[in-house]
Amino acid sequence: MTSYRILRARLGVLATAALLATGAVYAKGPSPEPIEPIKPHRVTHPAKVELGKKLWFDPRLSKSGFISCNSCHNLSMGGSDNLKTSIGDKWQKGPINSPTVLNSSLNLAQFWDGRAKDLREQAGGPIANPGEMAFTHDLAVDMLRSIPEYVAEFKRVFGNDKLSIDEVTLAIAAFEETLVTPNARFDQWLKGDKKAITAQELRGYQTFKASGCVACHNGPNVGGNSFQKMGVVEAYQTDNPAEGRSAVTGKDADRFNFKVPSLRNVALTYPYFHDGAADTLPEAVDTMGRLQLGKKFTPQENADIVAFLKTLTGDQPKMVLPILPPSSDQTRRPQPFE
Ligand code: HEC
Ligand code: HEC
Repeated sequence: MTSYRILRARLGVLATAALLATGAVYAKGPSPEPIEPIKPHRVTHPAKVELGKKLWFDPRLSKSGFISCNSCHNLSMGGSDNLKTSIGDKWQKGPINSPTVLNSSLNLAQFWDGRAKDLREQAGGPIANPGEMAFTHDLAVDMLRSIPEYVAEFKRVFGNDKLSIDEVTLAIAAFEETLVTPNARFDQWLKGDKKAITAQELRGYQTFKASGCVACHNGPNVGGNSFQKMGVVEAYQTDNPAEGRSAVTGKDADRFNFKVPSLRNVALTYPYFHDGAADTLPEAVDTMGRLQLGKKFTPQENADIVAFLKTLTGDQPKMVLPILPPSSDQTRRPQPFE
């Protein structure tokens, strides 16, 4: 065995050990890098996507007539609200930070604790959540049925007159699947354009890999594909009562395990962590280094990693703002203050 092959074999063992230790896995493709480029989304049913976009922006799916999906996942701001925790019906303080919807179709499950298995299952949640849109599925469907343009559009898209919450969530999920952000400068680098990132950004990526960040943040979404403990080496201090994955599995071992967030577009999706406690990327990187890896980065290393993370901002979804059909005389009126 040449010394190169011995080194490769050793590295392989080390990498495997790191992965086993954290329980993370990433697909081994032809690329030797643990991060893969995002593929552009191919729309197969444009009419369904267009309907889903209307529903996404329609605040009449909320009791107040004021809150839409876009209120807390603002597509002009990286698909998030940039607040520590979201604001819901009647200005209620939300329990947890709103994750971005960008590239969320690539995640293994939805929500910080993964309690929804996919986008479709997720989409019904906020409409009926009293702390978010505070409506019911029946009232949402009644609202849509009271508007002839919506009735006709659902019929055109689904080929039947059902118009139930199932069709609503199918259309929203179809729209959300289009919200991918390919072509980040880092993806251009992965595809061979060595000039796409600077020397500092490359150094940051190397530190990101060598320190072990990639054990949890890997794959096309640089995360989103496993549940991991927050506070592996050192406990995380927070007043936020969220328990993480154990709320779903009931297993004590899953306490404080959260879905590893995607680091795609992370420069846009501040503040960070499930409680929104870290306002800036340098702060989040410092916390991750210490709590997950027992590593205190120098200011230079921290700045390098932050520079690398900023190369993960991809092409943001471009769209024409939908014009929503007006309410009819039969449409129930909003109740923002009741
Ligand atoms: C009042 C604010 C608010 C509104 C309105 C809202 N969301 Fe959310 N959304 C959140 C918060 C907070 C979470 C995280 C909840 C959790 O993990 O427990 C979330 C999570 C999600 C996720 C999971 C993302 C991931 O990676 O885990 C998706 C997808 C999503 N919302 C889509 C929607 C859709 C579709 C609508 C409209 C039907 C909507 N949201 C309305 C605040 C909101
Ligand atoms: C053991 C797995 C693991 C390792 C290793 C790890 N992370 Fe994380 N990372 C997580 C989890 C889990 C969260 C979510 C924690 C929370 O919100 O409470 C997270 C959150 C983040 C966030 C905030 C993202 C957001 O949208 O809120 C950033 C930034 C981040 N990690 C960067 C890093 C960097 C840089 C490293 C290496 C120094 C690293 N991570 C190492 C699991 C890991």
